[in-house]
Parts: sequence; structure tokens; C-alpha cells
Amino acid sequence: MTTIAITGATGQLGRLAVAALKAKGAKPIALVRDPAKAADLGVEARAFDYTKADPAALKGVDTLVLISSNDFNDRAGQHKNAIAAAKAAGVGRIVYTSILKGDASPMILAQDHIATEAALKASGIPTTLLRNGWYTENYTGALGASIEHGAIIGAAGEGRVSSAARKDYAEAIAVTALDAAHTGKTYELAGDTAHTGAGLAAAVAAASGKPVAYVNMPEADYAGALQGFGLPEGFAKVLADSDALSAKGALFDDSRTLSRLIGRPTTPIAETIAAAL
Ligand SMILES: NC(=O)c1ccc[n+]([C@@H]2O[C@H](COP(=O)([O-])OP(=O)(O)OC[C@H]3O[C@@H](n4cnc5c(N)ncnc54)[C@H](OP(=O)(O)O)[C@@H]3O)[C@@H](O)[C@H]2O)c1
Repeated sequence: MTTIAITGATGQLGRLAVAALKAKGAKPIALVRDPAKAADLGVEARAFDYTKADPAALKGVDTLVLISSNDFNDRAGQHKNAIAAAKAAGVGRIVYTSILKGDASPMILAQDHIATEAALKASGIPTTLLRNGWYTENYTGALGASIEHGAIIGAAGEGRVSSAARKDYAEAIAVTALDAAHTGKTYELAGDTAHTGAGLAAAVAAASGKPVAYVNMPEADYAGALQGFGLPEGFAKVLADSDALSAKGALFDDSRTLSRLIGRPTTPIAETIAAAL
């Protein structure tokens, strides 16, 4: 069996991807900053940090799953380090978690992914690009406060977002990492159904039994509100930019590529909301 290694394995998506790979009989190598944090994964863990990516950690790896970093301090540079290490180690394929419409997305958030996709191409290493849409969990992290205030705020207007659960994207990682037939492919991955902000609020209201409305605001006001909740200014602006561009369809996709890839419907938002309550 092909040797698969996965970065970000102690992160939320990475943990689910490791579990999905194990469920399919694979024994992935977890590439992590802190092997002690990976002890409960039940797989071999090797130290691997994007900021000083060591090719030795990739010895014997056929397929590298490169999960994008959550550290926005030169994220593209971190990914380039990992790609260079993969090249030096002779890795046969990289499965990279990019962003929906990765080559054309105007979102600030997408720019690191565009740079990473270009670096992958320049490396000559065969790739599989998983252009992930929005996680439904992006909306469920602060449900308590939304229900308490009876409001979900945003700048998405009537924009429709085709979100899916992390476990859906994790399953796509497992499916594509395990099958070389996905080499050279680019997949736009998103939920089967799309929701507006109002639709999201209605789903939260239905699940909680409390009135919850969607409150739309100008992008700058939304960024200010996010800062008020404690987000750093730069990140608040990035999130508000994503939300505002979702009003123009940046996070919409109706291809159903994700459900076809994983062989089941994507997780309905009501299910992710219920799990978070
Ligand atoms: N599409 C979406 O809606 C969406 C939403 C959120 C995030 N994302 C992207 O998807 C990625 C995975 O999502 P997630 O929810 O699993 O994020 P997460 O839980 O924050 O995990 C991010 C992972 O990146 C690892 N990492 C950070 N800096 C690193 C470095 N210098 N070297 C090696 N590993 C490093 C972290 O390692 P540690 O475990 O050691 O901290 C962690 O495992 C995120 O990093 C982000 O790029 C997408």
C-alpha cells in the first residue's frame, strides 16, 4: 500500500482525515509540530514544521497530504517550504487543500492558495487539488452568543454559501489520497445545498427553538464588530472580505463534486448545527 503522510494532523480537519484514512485501512504518518499532541491518533507521528520543513521527515512518503496552515504569517511561504521538502525527499504526489475557485477567487483569503497552487505547479510534483469550500463549522463556533442575542451578523447579503462539514472534506482527503487515479485532478468541493445568512439563521432558530434573525451590515461595520469580539484587525478584515464577496457568489458551488467523490450526500447544515448546540 502507498505510504501517505499528512500535515496538520493534530488540527481539526487533519484529525478527521487521519480517522477517515484509518477507517479505509490505511496507516498514515502524522506530520505534526508536536508529536506529543499526536499520541492519541494511533499512527506514527513525525515532527514537521512548515517554517523549517525537513525533508528527512518525508522519507519513504509516496503521497503527501498538505493541509493549509492556520498561521497567516507568510502562509504561502510555509507551504512553499513544505513543497520544497517534498521535492527533496522525492515525494510522488501532493494532495493540497486549497480554496473554492482557488485560481480565480478574489478573496484575500484565497491569495495564499493561489500562490501555493502556482508553487505546486512549478515544483513539477504531481498534485491533486482539493479546492475546499466553506466549513459549516465556521458558523457554529459561536452559536451560543447568536442564540442569546437572537442574531447572526454578517456582510453576505443574499449571497448563497455552499458549505459542508469538515468531516465531508476529510473524507475527500482520504478518498483522493488513497487512489492514484486522482493524480493531476482539481476538484471544486462544496456542500450539496447552499444557504443564505437568513437561511442559516432560520436553521439555528429551528434547532434551538429560539428566535434568531440574520442581520446584514456593511463590510467595514462587520469587520469592526468582529474586532469587537476580540479578533485581530487584519483577520477581521479578511473574514469580512470573504463574507462580502460571498454576496457575489465566491462561496457558491452547485457541482456536487464533493458528494460524488465521497459517495454520499454532504452533511446538512441542520446536522452540524445540532451537533454544536
Ligand atoms: N474552508 C474553510 O472554511 C476553512 C476554515 C478554517 C480553516 N481553513 C483552512 O483549513 C486548514 C485546516 O482547517 P482546520 O479547521 O483543521 O484548522 P486548525 O484546526 O486550526 O488546524 C490547523 C493545523 O495547521 C497546523 N500548523 C499551523 N502552523 C504550522 C506549522 N508552522 N507547521 C506545521 N503545521 C502547522 C496546526 O498545527 P498544530 O496542531 O501544531 O497547532 C494545525 O494542525 C486551516 O489551517 C486553514 O488553512 C479553511
